[in-house]
Amino acid sequence: MSGLWAAAGFVEKKRRGGEHSREEIEDFVAAYAAGRVEEAQATEWLRAVMQAGMSLDETAWLTDAMARSGRILTWDPGLGPIVDKHSTGGVGDDVSLIAVPLAAACGVKVTKLSGRALGHTGGTLDKLESIPGLSTTLTADAFQRQVVEVGCAIAGASTDLAPADKKLYALRHRTQTVASIPLIAASVLSKKIAGGAPNLVIDVKVGRCAFMRTVEGATDLARTIVEVGARLKRTTVALVTDMDAPLASSIGDALELDEALRVLEGGEGGRLAELSLLVAGVMLDLAQGHTGEPRTSTQDMVREALLGGAALAKFEAMVQAQGGRLAAFPRPGRPHEIVAARASGVVEEIDGRAIGEAVVAAQAHLPKGSVFGVRLCRREGDEVKQGETLAEIYGAGVADQMAHLVRQAIRVGRQAPPPRPLVFTRFG
Ligand code: URA
Repeated sequence: MSGLWAAAGFVEKKRRGGEHSREEIEDFVAAYAAGRVEEAQATEWLRAVMQAGMSLDETAWLTDAMARSGRILTWDPGLGPIVDKHSTGGVGDDVSLIAVPLAAACGVKVTKLSGRALGHTGGTLDKLESIPGLSTTLTADAFQRQVVEVGCAIAGASTDLAPADKKLYALRHRTQTVASIPLIAASVLSKKIAGGAPNLVIDVKVGRCAFMRTVEGATDLARTIVEVGARLKRTTVALVTDMDAPLASSIGDALELDEALRVLEGGEGGRLAELSLLVAGVMLDLAQGHTGEPRTSTQDMVREALLGGAALAKFEAMVQAQGGRLAAFPRPGRPHEIVAARASGVVEEIDGRAIGEAVVAAQAHLPKGSVFGVRLCRREGDEVKQGETLAEIYGAGVADQMAHLVRQAIRVGRQAPPPRPLVFTRFG
């Protein structure tokens, strides 16, 4: 068909396990971004990459081509240290909502190009858009202005920032072609390269609620991200962190935003707060040129910014700059359903992935800002007595169905699972 890029040879080469040239990858990305590749062929290529993988060269070329499908921002060196952060995705992963304003409150500029729901994982943009009026669709100019004036911005890939990733990301979500090391690395890094920050902190998630199920797979992804980052002239630190269980206790956009706000208000701790403090500290260290173990002085500084309210003030300023009315955000009230323990014991297992999948699927049909989802009141290893609440369910009309699924997803027995570390390893 005229106008379409002849993708068959390109797809076939990867299907046979061949290695693309830089030119082939650039041609594919340009044609795909311009709407000249049939969706079925792009999907076939994604499937072939999932099977055959890509070399580091191919991954770097793909990253670079996707970043250059739009503008690449440049920043005035006089602005001071600039840093960006990203996660490879997991259930209840609300670290960006906390760490971005937290690092900005400590004096670094944070340029965060973020993503939407992907596979079974929620998206930072969707969570933020629970705030009435808030827009995550910023032009490159508006994004830059906000970073200069407020200190941080969280926006999506757009028509002028990494548009090829925006399109491919949505296709991967629709076609279950997410869990591939080169595709994740290129997607994450293309947005980071487009945002122009010279320093990147990437949170590589591992476990049942992540795309990488094993520490070996996540370590490979972390290594790939750091190496591709270096090839594209970015100083990159990757932390491999636990995502076997949901990080926050809430799953669902508005519930997660509420939980992140409770951390920013100083009222909530747990692993979400712990990891957010660590990530913000590493962002600060990196911005100051320190790439070793997290420094105690920096960790003290971010803790003070969280507990003293500076991070919350920065979050409020960011929301306001993006048109959001935080006071109009409906904080969740009483749940629509309760899942209670049928017997006393210890929570042996929570299938957070199944809960995440169900919440993401249902949310796609709900208006933005709907208070919908699941709040886990007991976590793996917690003791529970018969009749006590295991989980609260929000969502008028669908709570029954969700409660049934959550009941199946939580196993109460006799044996607490072994604890998992929060951070497994670090690269860069
Ligand atoms: N986040 C992204 O931006 N892309 C991925 O592929 C996974 C997480």
